Parts: sequence; C-alpha cells; structure tokens
Amino acid sequence: MRWNRKDLLGIEDLSVEEINHFLDTAFSFREISTRPIKKVPALRGKTIVNLFFEPSTRTRTSFELAGKRLSADILNITTAASSLVKGETLIDTAANLEAMKIDMMIMRHSASGAPHFLASRVKASVINAGDGSHEHPTQALLDMLTIKDKLGKIEGVNVVIVGDILHSRVARSNIWGLTKLGANVSVCAPRTLIPRFIEKLGVKVYCNVYEAVRDADVVYILRIQLERQKSNYFPSIREYARLFGIDREKLRHLKKNAVIMHPGPINRDVELSGDVADGENSVILEQVTNGLAVRMAALYLCSGGDIESEDTY
Ligand code: CP
Repeated sequence: MRWNRKDLLGIEDLSVEEINHFLDTAFSFREISTRPIKKVPALRGKTIVNLFFEPSTRTRTSFELAGKRLSADILNITTAASSLVKGETLIDTAANLEAMKIDMMIMRHSASGAPHFLASRVKASVINAGDGSHEHPTQALLDMLTIKDKLGKIEGVNVVIVGDILHSRVARSNIWGLTKLGANVSVCAPRTLIPRFIEKLGVKVYCNVYEAVRDADVVYILRIQLERQKSNYFPSIREYARLFGIDREKLRHLKKNAVIMHPGPINRDVELSGDVADGENSVILEQVTNGLAVRMAALYLCSGGDIESEDTY
C-alpha cells in the first residue's frame, strides 16, 4: 500500500487500508523518540508552516516537534501575529507563504471546511489540525493507535464517547475511524448535546451514563466546549458533572480494565474528576506520546515518504 494523498483533511475520506497504513507508519516512528538522539533526516530541506487560528497546546507543539524530529524547517503563525488581523484573507496569506516556496501547511481554524478550501487552492500539502466542529483527523489517528496499543486490536472493541458530541470534531473523526476499523461505538450525552441523525453514522445513543459505560472497553471523555456553545444546553456545570462527569463512583460501574481516554485539555472535575484523570485506568498522557508519532507520520506520508522503501530514518 502507498499513501497517494497530498493532504490529510479528514478520516471520513480514508479507506481502511489507508488508516491501517497510517497507523503502521506512526507505530514505526514511535521508536525515534526513545533514541538518545531523537532526530532523523527524513524531511531535511522541507519547510512546514504551522497556521493556528485557534488556541492549541498538544496539536501545535507536537506538529512542531514532529517536524523538528524529521529535520524539517518549521515556522509558527498565529492569528494575532499575522496580517489576518489587518484584513488579509486566508487565501492571500497562503499565496504569500507559497511564494516563499513552503512545502506544507498545518492548519487549525474555527470554520469547518477551511483546510479543504485551502487544499484545493494551493500546491503545498495541507494537514487539518482541527476545523470547527467538523474533523480532527490526527487526534482520531492517535486515539486509534492508543486503543490498538492498549487492547491489541480495534475490531470488536466497545468504545463509548461521553460528552459534548454536538460540538466535537474529535467525536466525528473518531466515529468515522473506529467504525471503519470495526469497533462498536456508542455516544452518551444530554439529548441537547447529541447531533440529530447521529445514528446514521453507525453509533448507538445513550443519555444515561451508567447504561452507556456498562460494557465499555474504552470510555472516551470529551471536554465541555463552553466556547462553542451558543445557548444553554444543560442547566448548570454542577449538574452536568453530577450526571455525566466520570468520577470514582462511576468508575466502579466500568469493567475493571476499561481504558479512560480524553483528547485534552481537561476541565478537571467537570467531565472528568482529577483522581480518575490521573488514575490507573487513564491513558491520557500515552495519547499525547502517540500524538507525536502520528504527526511525524502525517508529515512524512503527505510529503511522499514510504516506510516500505525509505532508509532515511
Ligand atoms: N486535543 C487537542 O487538540 O488539544 P489542543 O487543543 O491542545 O491541541
């Protein structure tokens, strides 16, 4: 299998073979970060621009670190420090960057579809680092890598995603990816935070967290995205935490070895209690470690690399 895509825009478009090839590539890149000298020449001479028009800690820094580990030159641009604040359009910004012969753009944007719009208008590769409530493909890939690592497989695994499904690009990308790989996926939230017709994506819907988590192998908890909520979807944060927040008491209703995941950033003691976030079932920091390998794979594959034939790493 060869990766033939210039861009990585979402999981919806990817075939099962492409997802598996991607996960295999990321798996092979993990070892580089355990070496005393954590750098390989795979992308020497390539120039990558991180265009983050929304805040980010994990995604932005792991893409930057991934580029550096592969010996690429990497620049960071944020809205506040760019001419976008002076009224320049996204396309003009991208055209000016291309005029400087950059090879790849990694973009996070509040508008769903913004990376797709850019990718169809530039020669450089575009990687979606999260677009509105639409997709966050590298997050889902790192989550799939973590599940495969912890449970040895994805097919047949019971995954329940708990939280703000309505506003979550992480939920959408994970639903596409996990269902393609044969996981049994459920979502659980107050009815107001569940998108209409979500069942059509092949998921079960629960509004009672105890019923939802009973058979779960993975409980994937989402942040309550107060910044995207335009109206009151539930009476109070305290009530949400009591009914849907995963804490020690709810943990007792899970399988003993159930895995707790969260994409970060965590609202501690809202959707997830601090002790469960830091407890033995949690693999949240392993997700972050896998995120670096996944972003190395994304840069490598979209720049035309092939683990079957390359000897540059
Ligand atoms: N999970 C995630 O996308 O985190 P950041 O917003 O910190 O990048």
